[in-house]
Amino acid sequence: MRAVVLFALALLAAGCPEREEEKEEKEAPSPPTGGTPAKPSPTMAPTEDVGPDGPADLAVPALAAIPTDPASIEAGKAVFETRGCGACHQFGSKLVGPDLTGVTQRRTILWIERMILHPSEMVRRDPVAKDLFKTHLTEMTYQGVTEEELPELLAYIKSQGG
Ligand code: HEC
Repeated sequence: MRAVVLFALALLAAGCPEREEEKEEKEAPSPPTGGTPAKPSPTMAPTEDVGPDGPADLAVPALAAIPTDPASIEAGKAVFETRGCGACHQFGSKLVGPDLTGVTQRRTILWIERMILHPSEMVRRDPVAKDLFKTHLTEMTYQGVTEEELPELLAYIKSQGG
């Protein structure tokens, strides 16, 4: 009998501090820093103030003018075909992507270069590209166009009324 009482007392003694600890944990205030602002999700990311040329840190060759010589245009036609632009673009109407007619009038050369070399960054960061994505609901893909091919490609696009 005496042993049972002692055992019960021992249990109580062992149990009490545990319960105290639990209570303390529950009452502890959770954020020690007083709360940090929620991280914005990618879709909520604020649009940058980038200007008509697109985000300046997206590297593209400095090209003062689009070439108009027949050799460049001819070479650019091959680039347009082999790089698969025609799968999504044509001149005269919208396909998967926008109608390229008049594109060299409505955008700067640097902006078009950035769109061709860095399409995903543009859709994420450039307000104009963001809007285009909202209408077309497809993201343009980087087609492996090299910096050397760019002037010819632009020459062909412009020659087609782009
Ligand atoms: C998978 C389809 C697809 C391919 C391939 C593609 N594009 Fe695009 N392109 C788009 C879409 C869609 C947009 C609109 C922006 C977006 O949603 O990503 C666009 C936008 C553009 C724009 C801007 C048009 C405007 O009105 O301002 C240009 C210029 C352009 N593409 C050129 C090209 C060239 C040149 C190639 C080939 C190297 C190419 N694209 C390949 C789908 C494509």
